[in-house]
Amino acid sequence: MNESLERLKEEVAGRLSRSVSEAEVEQLRVEYLGRKGTVTGLLRGLKDVAPEERPQRGEELNRLRAFIEERIAGCLESLKAEKRSKALTEERVDITLPGSRRERGRVHPLTMVVDEIVDVFSAMGFEIARGPDIEDDYHNFEALNMPKDHPARDMQDTFFVAAERLLRTHTSPVQIHVMESRKPPLQIIVPGAVYRHDDDATHSPMFHQVEGFMVDRGIAFTDLKGVLTHVLRQIFSADARVRFRPSFFPFTEPSAEVDIGCVICDGKGALRDSHACRVCKGTGWLEILGSGMIDPEVFRFVGYDAEKFSGFAFGMGVERIAMLKYGVEDIRLFFQNDLRFLRQFPSF
Ligand code: PHE
Repeated sequence: MNESLERLKEEVAGRLSRSVSEAEVEQLRVEYLGRKGTVTGLLRGLKDVAPEERPQRGEELNRLRAFIEERIAGCLESLKAEKRSKALTEERVDITLPGSRRERGRVHPLTMVVDEIVDVFSAMGFEIARGPDIEDDYHNFEALNMPKDHPARDMQDTFFVAAERLLRTHTSPVQIHVMESRKPPLQIIVPGAVYRHDDDATHSPMFHQVEGFMVDRGIAFTDLKGVLTHVLRQIFSADARVRFRPSFFPFTEPSAEVDIGCVICDGKGALRDSHACRVCKGTGWLEILGSGMIDPEVFRFVGYDAEKFSGFAFGMGVERIAMLKYGVEDIRLFFQNDLRFLRQFPSF
């Protein structure tokens, strides 16, 4: 090879071997092989070379170009390999580091109790219905046999939203909604929030009830007793004592309040130190729900024939059941969302 080409070759080889980046290599490629590159220029000059020297000169230049291309390719290859191994060491992940722990949520105790109650009823074929939290006077009172000025309205300190609109004071209006749109047989439960103007250690302005009712031909008080006794024994304990006590609700006749033997003093009315039990106030019994046979007057409001159909209904307070089940003394704890309180309940 001609001496000057030989020098050029060494120059390129030297510069390539010292280059440390792909950009630098690319720059060299342009400098030698680009459109205005040194080697390209020499190739272009072939036409001015004497014809007898042209073939040899051409061959030498082609070899030089091939050499440079090959070196560039090799250079790029090793630069890439270098980059990769550098990344592998620098970006190494330490798989022995402990993972970041995620906080685990849990079901709210009231939700747990509602779910449990719903499960017991579902197993007996009851279906779930729901109604609006904001009711009209007709569904919350009127159709439940509580006309305007009925003294029983006083039992339920009502939050009014507008003249005839209110926050439902119980889940019983859903009885009316369901019976307005469906015919018996019905086996329904209604879990939901209710509202009363009340606020102390055992009353919250918003609390929860589970309403239930069953309507068909031939439903009798014994069905009410059987179903509620079974449910309370499932929720509290298989040997819980259950008592039905005469009571009054405008929408049931006859009506009964249901008590269970006090879960705190075990129905004795007194504690071991012989002090009266505070939870049942020494009676040995805890009122747990209101119930009764649906009043024929309610059937008249929804257009059912009271000669053909009969039914029972009941309503229970979820917070009260949760307080007794878990020994919670202040209802407000359920709504403060203090994690120290909530964490004490079992999680799944
Ligand atoms: N709605 C009543 C209450 O809130 C409970 C109840 C429901 C009583 C159904 C009888 C029948 O106090």
